[in-house]
This record gives sequence, structure tokens and C-alpha cells, in this order.
Amino acid sequence: MEKLHKIIMDVDTGTDDAVAILMAIASEKIELLGICTVNGNRNVELTTDNTLRVVDYVGKGGEVKVYKGCALPLVSTLDPARRPLIPYGDKYFDGQENHGNHLDLPETELKPEEKDAVSFLIETLMKSDGDISIVAVGPLTNLAVALRAKPEIAGKMKQIIIMGGALTEGNSGPLQRAEFNFWADPEAAEIVLQSGVELTIVPLDVTHKTCIKEREADAFEQMGTKAGHAASIFIKRRIGNYKVWQPVCDPDEAPIHDALCIAGLLDPSVFTKVVECQMKMDFSGGTADGISVVNFKPTTRDLDGIFRPAVKNVKLVLEANRERFAKIMGELVAKL
Ligand code: RIB
Ligand code: CA
Repeated sequence: MEKLHKIIMDVDTGTDDAVAILMAIASEKIELLGICTVNGNRNVELTTDNTLRVVDYVGKGGEVKVYKGCALPLVSTLDPARRPLIPYGDKYFDGQENHGNHLDLPETELKPEEKDAVSFLIETLMKSDGDISIVAVGPLTNLAVALRAKPEIAGKMKQIIIMGGALTEGNSGPLQRAEFNFWADPEAAEIVLQSGVELTIVPLDVTHKTCIKEREADAFEQMGTKAGHAASIFIKRRIGNYKVWQPVCDPDEAPIHDALCIAGLLDPSVFTKVVECQMKMDFSGGTADGISVVNFKPTTRDLDGIFRPAVKNVKLVLEANRERFAKIMGELVAKL
């Protein structure tokens, strides 16, 4: 089958990143040019190791290349009071938690490529025909650094599909109103939001409404494939955790945030309500630090008080077809 999508993934693996990676590797329609890792759910050593474990587990070592990326956010950790726990290391989390330091997969001997993720992004995009989509499902540090180092790459990206941001939901920050990926590195998120690249934003508001159910994880296990088994483990771990620590959904289901981006890439009809609007970050260091702010109006008003047309910089996904998402996930993990 002809590959329809050339993509680079940018991940902080992570159980939901892992399911997204499995889906991308399994899809015959995706040419996965490389996976960049970043500090996020865990420090970059752990997110890189976890990414390599996923690749190795499904027998794609050497074929799917992994590039280690930025170890810290751009500036949010410079003030120790602002993000005191980042980077999340080996010892921070106790008990039940979404990811674990290491994914529940066998250890791997695989190593990341010599080249760092930012260099890989710049070199690959600059020699491309502008036909590469980025699927970014961790903090946006790698992309922000690449955009600062080589602004021309903005014109070389077909689109970026981003898991990030929140309107009324939240999972990070003092009031739990920020979304983790944007909260971890809000300045990086703002650089990407201002890049002029076509951006599709998949916020918590939609990932919390499209949860994968325990019975679906059971069905993935029954498929007898490695990807089905791994996805089932990760989804069940998340269900166990969400029911206790983040009751945003029914107790027999959990959001698999990052995987929704791959489903929407493969089948845009998964995204049933998409609104073009203006999105900006708050990176003030105060209570709203790390929160994405959305303007749905046609105008904006700067500090000079003058109304101007709002720059609609994002396609914001507000609704998605849960059944279709679950079906695509199942079809893909059945293949690998
Ligand atoms: O807020 C959800 C996001 O934060 C997901 O990408 C998850 O993997 C974490 O990175
Ligand atoms: Ca992630």
C-alpha cells in the first residue's frame, strides 16, 4: 500500500505515547521517518529508553530510529519555585501512576541515534519537499529549539498535530487547569503556536471525552499480537490510575490522549468538531502559568486598546468520534 503520511513523532513516552507509537508503526499508511524524545512524563533518559523498549518489543529495532532530544524545558525550570519537580526522575512517583519510570515491557539493548533530535528535525525538514507532518505529543521543547535555530523549517512542515492544551479541563498546575505538555514548557508551546505552521490542537477537553474502555483493552489482548498485548497493558494501567487519582471518566475507561492524534491523522473524520481560533499561552509564572488561552472571536485587542482581526493560528479539536477512534486503534494493534 502506498504510504500516505510521512511523519516524525515527538514523544515523552509514557503509556499513551506508547500506544500512539504502536499505532503509527502498525499503519501501512504511515512512513515513520523517526521518533524524537523529550523530557516530559519522565526525564529524557527514561522517555528515550521507554521509546526504544516499544520499538524493540515489536521487532522494529534499527528500522524505526529514535533521536534523543531536549533534557529540560526552555526556561520554566530556571526559577526553582516554578517547576520544582521537573525533570521527573526515578524517585518522584510512588504507587499507582499512569506510566511508571519504565514501561511494563522487557529491557532493551537498543540505543538512540548519535544525532540529537533537534538536528534530526532540522536536517530532515530542510531536505524535504514540505510533505512531512509532525505528531507532537510531549512538551514542545524540541520543536521550539529547532524553530529558533532554523526558522526556515516552519515553511517546510506540512502540519503539526499536537496533543496539548485545555479549555475547561486540566491535569497540571496549581488549579489543575493547565494541560501537562503545555504546562511543562509553556514558552516552547508559545513559540510553536506563533510559528505560522498549520497546527491541529488536540486538547484534554476532547481526549477526556474519547476514553478507551476496559472491554476494548481485553479485546486487544485477545488479538494475540504484541502490539495488542502491550496496548492492553498500558490502557489497563491507566484505567486503574484514573479511577483513583483522576476521575475524569467512567471507572472502566481512561483517556489515551496521544493515540487520538494518530487516529485523527489517519482518518480526519475522527475529529467531528474542529474550530479555527486564536490560541496563546500564559507563561506569567502566576496561577495561570502554563494555561492555554483561546479567543473564539473574530477580533483581538492589544494593550493599545485597538481592535484587530484575530490571527486564527490553530485548528482546535473540540469533539471526536470515540467509537471510530477505538476501532482504528483496534485495527492497528491487531496487525503488529
Ligand atoms: O496531558 C496529557 C499529555 O501529557 C500526554 O501527552 C501525556 O503523555 C503527557 O505527556
Ligand atoms: Ca505524551
